[in-house]
Amino acid sequence: MTLEQDILARRTFAIISHPDAGKTTITEKLLLFGGAIRDAGTVKGKKSGKFATSDWMEIEKQRGISVTSSVMQFDYSDCRVNILDTPGHQDFSEDTYRTLMAVDSAVMVVDAAKGIEAQTLKLFKVCKMRGIPIFTFINKLDRQGKEPLELIEELEEVLGINAYPMNWPIGMGKEFLGIYDRYNKRIEQFRVEEGDRYLPLDEEGHLAIDNDMKKTSYYSQAIDDIELLNEAGNAYSEDKIARGELTPVFFGSALTNFGVQTFLDTYLKFAPIPQPRITEDEQFIDPVEHGEFSGFIFKIQANMNPAHRDRIAFVRIVSGKFERGMNMTLSRTGKSFKVTQSTQFLADDRETVNEAVAGDIIGLYDTGTYQIGDTVVGGKKTFNFEKLPQFTPEIFMKVSAKNVMKGKQFQKGVLQLVQEGAIQYFKTMHTEEVILGAVGQLQFEVFQHRMINEYNVEVIMQPIGSKIARWIENEEDVKDSMHSQRSMLVKDRFDNKVFLFENEFAMRWFSEKNENIQLYSLL
Ligand code: G4P
Repeated sequence: MTLEQDILARRTFAIISHPDAGKTTITEKLLLFGGAIRDAGTVKGKKSGKFATSDWMEIEKQRGISVTSSVMQFDYSDCRVNILDTPGHQDFSEDTYRTLMAVDSAVMVVDAAKGIEAQTLKLFKVCKMRGIPIFTFINKLDRQGKEPLELIEELEEVLGINAYPMNWPIGMGKEFLGIYDRYNKRIEQFRVEEGDRYLPLDEEGHLAIDNDMKKTSYYSQAIDDIELLNEAGNAYSEDKIARGELTPVFFGSALTNFGVQTFLDTYLKFAPIPQPRITEDEQFIDPVEHGEFSGFIFKIQANMNPAHRDRIAFVRIVSGKFERGMNMTLSRTGKSFKVTQSTQFLADDRETVNEAVAGDIIGLYDTGTYQIGDTVVGGKKTFNFEKLPQFTPEIFMKVSAKNVMKGKQFQKGVLQLVQEGAIQYFKTMHTEEVILGAVGQLQFEVFQHRMINEYNVEVIMQPIGSKIARWIENEEDVKDSMHSQRSMLVKDRFDNKVFLFENEFAMRWFSEKNENIQLYSLL
């Protein structure tokens, strides 16, 4: 296979969802189809820590976060699929957002009974901002959920995206009979004891053969709904799907493995090949045309082995080919080095990788060299990919060294961890107390753990809760007197002024009183 063919076979995506919507279950089914795992339960087992290897960072062990499942790769129908995990629950962090910078499309899993939930919305917004294709899988149809039309409406209203149902449920819960597959023009039966799983449709889109299903009210309802969608629904447009303006919607039940393969087959037809990325000087780096290896670091996983204090920097390969032993240059410093140790992430184990191409993710062993957003290149000419966005933190802590004598190490540790992108830094205006901001609790725990292990500083963490952080367009108009308990005025690490509002109400109240101050949020 040529390098070009190798690259064009790549499909790199993330599955986004709110916890419990069924992301793990669906991932597992995809891995089973791809032959990457043999038994159902492998991914789940990892989640509960059953397969945890002994050398992970202590908190990771406690929580059972699996490093090895953060990138999963398998071959399916002429494609090499890379699925990037986006951790949820308490493990939600800026890394979760940043992972979305490294994919070419996203699959959104929605629980049919719950509709669009908070975390799905947050992750969706990041995908929308990037304009990447988003595919929707509405899960748990084997249980009673919301009406399908209601779900489509909710999707469009809450997310502000147009939806095109690729298939439609016939019944639901105990009465779930199957899906009407608009795209493949067939009906796929749920729980067929005997006979065919797939039933053909005639020219008019009705069941072409006699079948008990035809007599049911669920079938008539589905046919009515389909007619309505054909007449009044969104038109199918591959261009709009590619631009992320129209989301194809699939219904199914991951647990019973129903509709997942149909979804995967169709998805892979549309999922984009590795996309070009833009550099800071607005040059497009094409995965194939560019010829040489390049990539960027979107995540740094700290201290997987405390004995060695090693970290792994996750690189999304943008162009060309990676080969073990090759020379790479870190654009930020201009330093070149030979990459002898690199690792690829598979569902079953961490393996040393010898080769990887654009679209793939590799891990580089890191002893503190890399920062999030760094560009690495294989050629002589260095350049930087566009900066990764910063995300508005939502929870905050005041932090200080327990032992005042350790002030220096404390500052050093904080600075390095902030630079690495592990956590965001703020300080109070005049007293210069350190406040850290994060999008998920895990970031604080990692911070505290690393401060003690790597910098030997015990840290006092004083939660100040969730806040709405807003940066200021016209800083010169901000006065110290605008600072209050409910609208804390602080500085970020670049000395920009930032308001931390107690809640939406406090922010609105502030804006009404100070109409001249223009606030904005990061992503
Ligand atoms: P997550 O990764 O998005 O957090 O979700 P996960 O796959 O762990 O699924 C959450 C729960 O929903 C699990 O049940 C899982 O079995 C169930 N589930 C997933 N897909 C379906 C589906 O299509 N239909 C039904 N009825 N349930 C589904 P649990 O009881 O929390 O876990 P477990 O004890 O089954 O492992």
